[in-house]
Amino acid sequence: AGDTLSFTPTMGWNSWNCWGINVSAEKVQSSAKAMLDKGLADHGWNYINVDDGWEAPARAADSSIVTNSKFPDMPALGSWLHQRGLKFGIYSSPGPLTCGGFLGSYRQEESDARTYAGWGVDYLKYDWCSYESIADTSLEGYIKPYRIMQQALRKQNRDIIYSICQYGLKDVWKWGREVDGQSWRTTEDIEDTWESMERIGFSQDKLQAYAGPGHWNDPDMMIVGKVGWGENLHASRLTPDEQYTHVSLWCLLSAPLLIGCDLDKLDDFTLNLLTNDEVLAIDQDELGSQAKRVSANVWVKDLADGGKAVGIFNMDTTRRTISVNWKSLGLDDYHVVRDVWRQKDLGVLQSSFTKSIAPHGVMLIKLIK
Ligand code: GLA
Repeated sequence: AGDTLSFTPTMGWNSWNCWGINVSAEKVQSSAKAMLDKGLADHGWNYINVDDGWEAPARAADSSIVTNSKFPDMPALGSWLHQRGLKFGIYSSPGPLTCGGFLGSYRQEESDARTYAGWGVDYLKYDWCSYESIADTSLEGYIKPYRIMQQALRKQNRDIIYSICQYGLKDVWKWGREVDGQSWRTTEDIEDTWESMERIGFSQDKLQAYAGPGHWNDPDMMIVGKVGWGENLHASRLTPDEQYTHVSLWCLLSAPLLIGCDLDKLDDFTLNLLTNDEVLAIDQDELGSQAKRVSANVWVKDLADGGKAVGIFNMDTTRRTISVNWKSLGLDDYHVVRDVWRQKDLGVLQSSFTKSIAPHGVMLIKLIK
């Protein structure tokens, strides 16, 4: 697939952070419908990914994988999505069982890849879990299952994005590209707390070299809107400012953007958070460069038009006035400063920039040549 499949990071929805294993075709369709009706699709959101929980307890007589009763007709779901211009994603694991305890693809990789292609699948999230106990613990032992599924996918007459979900084990970023993964999870699962989002998001700054068009570091799905992993659905415990930080950082990191909430119950704040085209353009920038941390509070991402996206983060729990000296960061040859969330120019570049930033909040700006 090279670099053209997922040339920019995937944008879409995944069922897990909301529904967990209680997912159903009906719930998936309800979020897909909302993605269209609420206009998200017009801002680039187009993948609808079914995570764990769709599999039946046993394979068919010919050993092909089949769905459980909550997914009565997978090919029909696939065409329903395609007819509406959306893409269809699915989930499996290389071990005998998935992380949720359903049937994995171990020794059935080709059969499963063929089945997915027949269903019209455009994206496979391939986990790790039960493979751990059978893996040869060498580096090659960890790579092998991903190589096997990659070969099975590439035998299908269909472009299928390959999303490796292996938590950064054995430095997956160093070999994810070689097995033609379009993305690879770099950490454990995210939760809707500041601590989890901060630990995952702000720890990505040694991984820039591994990201680029077609191959992305994946700091996990977004924890905005209503989440709950299948139980106790509740509004994300991130404050609004923390959510601006979350989305800003994911865009600076060129991360795959997967919304994890019930889109049918989308509130206006979350809708606005996910439909700001200037913010999303930073994630989707075609240079595909991942931001670097240049000082304690500042992350900078190179953009294809020669500009830079700059995130100034307040990591403290109290409001702080933060100053950035452009010259000391080597950014003094830009002309205009633009506030990206508010979509407004702040004037010509001065020698430094000072801003009062909310607790755990962000100022996301663009420097224009
Ligand atoms: C793992 C993954 C999650 C989700 C579950 C499904 O925990 O990291 O994103 O896919 O498995 O069981």
